[in-house]
Amino acid sequence: MEFPFDINQLFSERISILDQNLVASRQSKEKPDLRVKIATVLDELGEASAKAQDLPAPITSASKLQFQKHQLYLMKDGESSRGRGVVVGFLKVGYKKLFLLDRNGVHIEVEPLCVLDFYIAENLQRHGYGLELFNFMLQHQNVEPVLLAYDRPSTKLLAFLAKHYNLRQSVPQVNNFVAFEDFFYKRAVSQLRRVKKPDGEIKPYSLMEREAVRQEQRTLPWPFAAPQSPHRSVSSQCSQSPSAGSSPRRVLPCVTHPTFAGDSREQSPHSPLMDCCRTRRSNSLSRSQLGFN
Ligand code: ACO
Repeated sequence: MEFPFDINQLFSERISILDQNLVASRQSKEKPDLRVKIATVLDELGEASAKAQDLPAPITSASKLQFQKHQLYLMKDGESSRGRGVVVGFLKVGYKKLFLLDRNGVHIEVEPLCVLDFYIAENLQRHGYGLELFNFMLQHQNVEPVLLAYDRPSTKLLAFLAKHYNLRQSVPQVNNFVAFEDFFYKRAVSQLRRVKKPDGEIKPYSLMEREAVRQEQRTLPWPFAAPQSPHRSVSSQCSQSPSAGSSPRRVLPCVTHPTFAGDSREQSPHSPLMDCCRTRRSNSLSRSQLGFN
């Protein structure tokens, strides 16, 4: 993905690690204008990822990253675009408290590292960049792929995991997360806490986040509200099959029971950078660009 500014000025490494501070180098820490450009890159990446996954709204943006304890690995190709560099893609991970079912159908409370969003620019997919980025994250987090939980993996991600890490057998869950068989065997017993099914309906993290975005879309007045479109419900996603040659639909286990809890760390309080982004892009009607995500 090309941008109208120098990517190498923002990101010094081939793979940069961004967190709540949106800082990729000492230079960007000291210069607010660089932070604004980083925010632009993150917002555009989040939108491209959402489009590729057929999501109604981005689940990654600069303002979201600021208020989540997530880590985002951003990969660039520093030589392309006449030496200004292009962004190849990103991978976002974070810890989530989840209630998962083990192979015996017992509810287990865990807080694994989760793969939350993963995107490689369309023209660069299937060139090995995803693998390079994923392996970098594994090394940095010192974790095996089987010990991760995957938030509504797309058909492309499932194929990626099967091909590169031989992850094929998942244990059916009642929420959107996918855990593979050895997730439960390889995890230390002390890390698995058997729990009683919680009372009442508690929504899984990823549903909460996506539903919040939809709710915002419904309640915002024109011109901020997106046009009403028939968003897919979870149950309709279950029945849809991926279509060849088009953007993947995220494949997820069908939700047939009440769903269970994630944490609520996704709330977005007030922030100076958000204000800055709002002002800077006040002419755009895009919701994420307006800082509502
Ligand atoms: N169709 C099927 N499988 C695919 C496709 C595709 N269009 N693209 C990649 N894969 C899988 C295949 O196993 C492929 O191997 P193959 O070419 O021999 O069939 C393998 O990935 C290629 O590996 P890489 O080149 O290292 O992967 P890539 O750079 O393409 O990155 C990624 C993989 C991130 C899934 C990328 O395809 C992408 O951005 N897809 C669109 C967005 C998406 O679906 N992201 C995952 C969302 S789910 C989540 O984030 C929890």
